Amino acid sequence: MSRPRARPGRRTRRGDEPGGPGVILLTGVTGTVGGLVARRLATDEPVRLLARDPRRLTALTGPRTEAVGGDFTDRASLATALTGVRAAFLVTNDPLTHAHDENFVAAARAAGVRHVVKLSARAVDEPDATDLVTRWQRGNEDLIRSSGLGWTFLRPRAFMSNTLGWARSVREEGVVRVFGASSPNASVDPRDIADAAALCLTDGEPTARALALTGPAAISPVEQVAVLSRLLARPVRLEELTWGQARSRLLTRHPAPVADALMESAVRQRAGAKGEVDPTLATLLGRPARDYASWAADHRSAFVAGRGT
Ligand SMILES: NC(=O)c1ccc[n+]([C@@H]2O[C@H](COP(=O)([O-])OP(=O)(O)OC[C@H]3O[C@@H](n4cnc5c(N)ncnc54)[C@H](OP(=O)(O)O)[C@@H]3O)[C@@H](O)[C@H]2O)c1
Repeated sequence: MSRPRARPGRRTRRGDEPGGPGVILLTGVTGTVGGLVARRLATDEPVRLLARDPRRLTALTGPRTEAVGGDFTDRASLATALTGVRAAFLVTNDPLTHAHDENFVAAARAAGVRHVVKLSARAVDEPDATDLVTRWQRGNEDLIRSSGLGWTFLRPRAFMSNTLGWARSVREEGVVRVFGASSPNASVDPRDIADAAALCLTDGEPTARALALTGPAAISPVEQVAVLSRLLARPVRLEELTWGQARSRLLTRHPAPVADALMESAVRQRAGAKGEVDPTLATLLGRPARDYASWAADHRSAFVAGRGT
């Protein structure tokens, strides 16, 4: 995966980093977007990777990379991890607590961090989105905005990689089960989110900007399943779940308040609230955003029968 093209005027000479001297700290690096950001920056930026278990980071380390142990619940570990850091990528993922963001922001202020790039969500500036997860992200943004830190908010629509959740049933039964099969979502490739994050972390002064990140088209599960079926050269059936069935499935992976928030969000999508395409990502990257067919082609093996897992 290549680094995004530099924007005009971006200085790249070593020792003359646009953001000044200092390390870039990445969180969430054992997860989807943080791991992709680490791969983009590891070869030519001084990068510190934070994980609860840094032994999981060996595949991501490079000559200018260090791995540190740290936990959003442990302020002392954050203070150590943020020492000498000029810019940080913040990924939190527990909508039942604001403490993770509060601890990180307090430690970042104390350490003199200049720029926090926060992985947020598209729905934050959509007033009709009132579910728990969106309210949590809204609160996290408010916290950063009022902290005095420089900030950039990345507000992606649904990750295309969420459809990896279909991989097992596609492999084993040739079926996708979903609530709201026909509702479009301008879902975004996590590689594009990571490209945007890498640019924001390396590209000079923080600008207090919120970036809406969508894919190049609104695509429904029906259309995504058609893409997968063509790619796999075999039929993939789609079964519509009822609201109750979909919620029961979410409850196997999430606490009830989070499952309910995700259902609220799914109902909003079914009503057509998530189809709008935003040009910000293409403008920022200087190329079109990747489409679902491209994401699926590059992740085809996950859907191929006999792969295991
Ligand atoms: N999925 C979507 O469609 C979507 C859309 C819009 C916005 N978002 C937002 O994207 C974010 C999730 O991004 P993602 O999917 O890339 O993440 P992810 O794959 O869920 O990974 C979560 C990361 O958080 C780390 N983590 C969890 N608890 C931690 C703790 N106490 N201390 C330190 N690190 C901790 C995990 O590390 P370890 O467990 O290894 O320690 C892991 O690296 C959420 O904020 C979500 O609201 C998602």
